[in-house]
Amino acid sequence: SSVATLIERNPSFSTITVDDIAYFKNTLGDRGVIQDEEVLEAANTDWMRKYKGSSKLMLHPRSTEEVSQILEYCNSRSLAVVPQGGNTGLVGGSIPVFDEVIVNVGSMNNIISFDKVSGILVCEAGCILENLMSFLETEGFVMPLDLGAKGSCQIGGNVSTNAGGLRLLRYGSLHGSVLGVEAVLANGTVLDMLGTLRKDNTGYDLKHLFIGSEGSLGIVTKVSILTPIKLSSVNVAFLACKDYVSCQNLLVEAKRKLGEILSAFEFLDVHAMNLTLEHLEGARNPLPSSMHNFYVLIETTGSAESYDREKLEAFLMDAVENGLVTDGVLAQDINQASSFWHIREGIPEALMKAGAVYKYDLSLPVAKMYDLVEDLRARLDSAANVVAYGHLGDGNLHLNVSAPSYSDSILSQIEPFVYEWTSNHRGSISAEHGLGLMKANRIHFSKSTETVQLMSAVKKLCDPKGILNPYKVLPSSMLA
Ligand code: FAD
Ligand code: MLT
Ligand code: ZN
Repeated sequence: SSVATLIERNPSFSTITVDDIAYFKNTLGDRGVIQDEEVLEAANTDWMRKYKGSSKLMLHPRSTEEVSQILEYCNSRSLAVVPQGGNTGLVGGSIPVFDEVIVNVGSMNNIISFDKVSGILVCEAGCILENLMSFLETEGFVMPLDLGAKGSCQIGGNVSTNAGGLRLLRYGSLHGSVLGVEAVLANGTVLDMLGTLRKDNTGYDLKHLFIGSEGSLGIVTKVSILTPIKLSSVNVAFLACKDYVSCQNLLVEAKRKLGEILSAFEFLDVHAMNLTLEHLEGARNPLPSSMHNFYVLIETTGSAESYDREKLEAFLMDAVENGLVTDGVLAQDINQASSFWHIREGIPEALMKAGAVYKYDLSLPVAKMYDLVEDLRARLDSAANVVAYGHLGDGNLHLNVSAPSYSDSILSQIEPFVYEWTSNHRGSISAEHGLGLMKANRIHFSKSTETVQLMSAVKKLCDPKGILNPYKVLPSSMLA
C-alpha cells in the first residue's frame, strides 16, 4: 500500500528462522502454527483491501499461558508481533506492515462465567461478538455494544479498539462497561485485571490502558463486561429530514421526549442512501416515494410495549407537525425493523463494493458536523462522491469519499484538509476506529505534544523493544 511504502522496516527486528518455527510448533502444536499461503494471504489483507502485509506466520494460541510463552519468546528474539482478531478494523491496525508474526486468539473462545444477577459476563478474548449476543439472548441479556461487523469481530478486538457502534448512545462506551481485562505484556507477563466489580478504586485503573490501545501495549486474553437486561419492547423508525439542521433538532427532541427509551439515533445523507441502494444486496429504501436529503434511524428499547409505542408515535406525530420530519415509517414487525437496520449497517459494505474508499471517523460538535461534509464536497467537486453517515447521537460523523480507484490527487484534496478542519474545531480525528497504521502520524491533530510524550513513555514501559504492533498508533518519530 502507499502508506507502507513510506515506512521503513525497523532493522532491529529479527526475521523468522526454522528454529523459531520449531519452537512455536513445540509450544502450540502443529495446528497452532499456520504457514498456509491462502490463509496468510487473507490475514495479510485488511477488510477494505487497502493495506497489505507480508507475514509468513500466524499463531493460534489456546490459552493465556500459550500467549505468554509466545510473547516472551518473540520479545527475547526481537520478533515483531501483530495481534489480530476478526480483522474487521478500518485503519490498517490489524494487518502486518512487513513480516510481523500474526497472533490471533480466535481459538480462545470460551465463555468463562455469567452472573445472572449482576449481568456480568467473563469470557476469553477470541469470542465473536455475535456469538456472545446469542449466548446472552438465551439468558435474557444483551451486549452493551453492537456493530455491523458483529459476525466476525472478536470481543478482544472490540476492547482493543474501544469500539463504539450502534448502542453507545444508550449503554455508553467500553470504558464504562468493561469491568476487567486480562492482558499479556510484550515480555510475557500476565496482568490479571479481570475484576468483576462495578466499583473498585484501588489505585490506578490500568485496564483502561488496554481499552483502545489497538494491540500496542499487550494482547488482551480475557474480558469481563457488564451486560444490560434484554428489554421486551424494541421499536425502529426510519425518517426523512429536509436538511441537516432538522436532523440536529430532531436529536434534541428525541432526547427530550423519548429520553429513557432512546437506544439509537443514526443518520445518513442522500449520497450514502443512493450508494447503499446501488451496491448493497437486499437494500430497499424504506421511504421510496421520493428522495430526501437526509435520513434518520431511531430505535427505542424499553419494557412497556404499548406505552413505548405510544410514546414513539406521539413523538413522530409532533415531529411531522412541526416540520422536523418530512416522511417516516415505523417498523411493523421484526423483519421490517431489521430491513431498516440493514440499510444503516450495510453502508460500509456498500462503500467497499463501490470502489476505493477514503474513510474518516470524526468526533465533532453536532452543530458543525455537516459543514465539513459540504466544504469537502465543494473542494472535491465532481472528482469523487462524498458520503456522510454516522452516530449522530454520539457526535460521531463517518465521512467517506468514494471513488473508482485510489489516487494521490484525490487524497491530497482530502488530507490534511479534513484533519485540520477537525482540529480547528477541537474534534477528534478518530472517534471510534482508532489510529492504526492510517493515522499513527496524525495523532497530533487531536492530542498535545506532552500527551503523546506520556503515551510513548507508557508504550516503552510496557513494550521496551517495541515489538507489539509496530508502526501503529504512535508516530514513528516518537518510537525511535
Ligand atoms: P481486528 O480488526 O482484528 O483488530 C483491530 C485492532 O485491535 C488492531 O490494532 C489489532 O492489533 C488489535 N487487536 C485485535 N485483537 C486483539 C487482542 N486480543 N489483543 C490486543 N489487540 C488486539 N467500529 C466501531 O467502533 N463502531 C462501529 O459501528 C463499527 N462498525 C463496523 C462495521 C463494519 C462492517 C466493519 C468492517 C468494521 C466496523 N468497525 C466499527 C470497526 C471496528 O474497529 C471493528 O469492527 C472491531 O472492533 C474490531 O474487532 P476485530 O476483532 O475485527 O479486530
Ligand atoms: C459504522 O458506523 O458503520 C462503522 O463505524 C463503519 C464505518 O464507519 O464505515
Ligand atoms: Zn461507526
